[in-house]
This record gives sequence, structure tokens and C-alpha cells, in this order.
Amino acid sequence: MNYRRLGKTNLQLSEIGMGTWQITDDPDWGKGNSEKDSFDLLQRFIDLGGNHIDTAWAYGWSDDKPLIHPSEELIGKFLKNTHQRDKVVLVTKIPPINHLWPAPENSTMASTFPKQHIIDCVEDSLRSLQTDSLEVMLFHVWRDIFNEEEEWKEVCKKLTKEGKVQYWGISPNYFEPEECINTLNEGFISVVQCMFHIFHQKPIKTLFPITKKNDVGIVACAPLDEGGLTGSITLDTIFEAGDFRADYFAGDRLPELVNRTDKLKELLGENDLSNLAELALRFILSFKEVSSVIPGMRKMKNLESNVAVSDGKILTQKLIEKLEDHTWERNFYPWASD
Ligand SMILES: NC(=O)c1ccc[n+]([C@@H]2O[C@H](COP(=O)([O-])OP(=O)(O)OC[C@H]3O[C@@H](n4cnc5c(N)ncnc54)[C@H](OP(=O)(O)O)[C@@H]3O)[C@@H](O)[C@H]2O)c1
Repeated sequence: MNYRRLGKTNLQLSEIGMGTWQITDDPDWGKGNSEKDSFDLLQRFIDLGGNHIDTAWAYGWSDDKPLIHPSEELIGKFLKNTHQRDKVVLVTKIPPINHLWPAPENSTMASTFPKQHIIDCVEDSLRSLQTDSLEVMLFHVWRDIFNEEEEWKEVCKKLTKEGKVQYWGISPNYFEPEECINTLNEGFISVVQCMFHIFHQKPIKTLFPITKKNDVGIVACAPLDEGGLTGSITLDTIFEAGDFRADYFAGDRLPELVNRTDKLKELLGENDLSNLAELALRFILSFKEVSSVIPGMRKMKNLESNVAVSDGKILTQKLIEKLEDHTWERNFYPWASD
């Protein structure tokens, strides 16, 4: 595993991080792993050199069990039981208090992340993750206008002074990387976690120059377009009960996806790549602006092949240019129009 500096935080992150949205039961993904299988995965990730674990207050959260934070709690229990807290960089996220993803246009910081909510969620995450301090806390949605309010910055600074959160980051609304430019230019935020993949290359032009100028670390989430960029979703795929991707890839989207992935597969052989997931992850790691990429992993086979991509080999400039023709900008998230 190779490591990259996370912008001005100077934290060294494994190039492949572990996305854990779907590791436990989640209302958007359906059934997760057994605790034992998850613990085996987390251990294997660490044994292979992984140190970057991405979770969120909201992963696994459901209306009927509002006090439980399954993904964070699973990770906390694992790290505590195995005495490995010092081996990992923990990144988690504060949910919008109104539970609206993305943050609607007229949102304010006060209506989305009021002061007491920030404090309460940090305390919840510390408790769930069984730790005294978090390396990075992200705001789970973002609009640039939030930057104009001041109170939240004071709250964050106080929490940092108390030793509870080392660095603060933001996760701009899906496919809207431009919605954080002013915030990043101001300098308080150290990390941005955003969508960036072969289909969604907008961050290269809108975001990367800004993060470079301000030395902000980038983490690329949903790098496989929710599995679309793995080539394993076909016309015959039937998603399991509760898996939001039955909507994400509904109707005409599925044949369109398969058509596009078939074209991408034509690039594999001539570039010595074994599958589409490898191409998708190598594409992201070919940009030095990105510190780490976090595929969602709940299967050992996927984990091992994803980690193997961190071997220093990047794509040729010629291939990166060819991949520009494969962009497919859209927003299929079912809750996007809520
Ligand atoms: N900040 C945000 O708002 C935000 C948004 C989305 C995600 N995230 C974070 O980013 C992580 C990754 O995003 P994601 O999980 O939504 O989407 P993703 O990583 O694009 O896709 C996950 C899917 O890819 C499959 N997969 C992973 N590696 C594979 C491989 N080598 N071969 C074939 N299939 C493979 C998984 O398979 P299985 O179904 O078999 O497990 C899963 O279905 C999340 O877990 C979460 O931590 C953050």
C-alpha cells in the first residue's frame, strides 16, 4: 500500500481507504455483513497496510433505531477489541439535522448544522467509535453560502481546542463540486470529500485548482459509481431488497450503463488492466491532487483487489485523455429531488 499526504493536515492516508456505508445493515443498501465478516475485512484491510477508514453518523442509521449508529459502532468495537485505534485515521461525518441529502438551495448553516447539533454529533461519534479524538470530521452536505456564517467556525475551533476533532472537512452536495470554492478559499477547511470518477470528471477543472492553491486534501468517494464502474452490473442484475441501486440504475439507465461499460472494457487489454474496477481506481489515483480513494467494500475479494491497485502505477496521459470522452454527468440518486 502507498500513502499520500492529506493536504495541510499532514496526515498520511493509505491510497485506498475503506468505505463503510454498506458494511452494516443500511436502509439504502439492505443487508450488511455479519459482525464477524466485517471484523475479518477490517483486519485484512489493516494487515494489507490500509489506515484510512471512512464512516458517518448516518451509515446504517434508521428512523426506528435513532440512537444507533451501526457503521461507526462496528468500527469502534473492532478497534477497541483489537487495540488498533492507533493504526488508523478515522474520518466520520455530521449529518444535516433535517436529514436532507443534498442540502436544498435555501439552506443555511443554522438550519442544516446548528451549533448544538455539531456538538451533539461529535459527542455521538466519539462514543460510537469509542475514541477520545477524531482525525477528521466532515459536514455531510455542503453549500458554499454556509461559509458566510461564522458561528459554526467558532464551534469547530472550540472542539479542536478540546482535542475532540483534529481537522474539519466538507462533503459538497453530490456532483456539485463548485459548491465549496469560497469555503476552501477561506482556509479553515482542510479536507474535501467529493464524488470523482470516470463518469464524473467535473472536479478536475472546478475543484482541483482550488484545493491545490489552498493545500486542501481530496478524498474521492463513490469512485465506482455505486458499482456501475465495476462492469459487474449487467442487464440481468437484480438488486437485493432495500438496495437503492434498483432506483439508481432503473429503466433506461441500465442499458445505457451497460453500453458505456462495454465501451470502457475495450480499453482494458491494450492497457494491461484486468478489469473495470481497476481502471476506475487507477484513473482516480492518477491525479496527484487526490490523497485517497474510498471504494465501498464488504467482500474480501473486492477488498484485496482494490488494495492491490495501490502499487504506484498510474494511467498514461493518452489513456486519461481518452477517458475524457467517457464522462456521463448526471444525478441518479433517488433522494436527490427530495
Ligand atoms: N461524502 C458522501 O456524501 C459520500 C457519498 C457516498 C459514499 N461515500 C463514502 O464512499 C464510500 C464508497 O462509495 P459507495 O460505497 O457509495 O460506492 P462505490 O464505492 O462507488 O461502489 C460500491 C459498490 O462497488 C462494489 N465494489 C467495490 N469494489 C469492487 C470490485 N473490486 N469489484 C466489483 N465490485 C466492487 C461494491 O460491491 P458489493 O455490493 O458487492 O459490496 C459496492 O456495490 C462509501 O462506502 C462511503 O464511505 C461518501
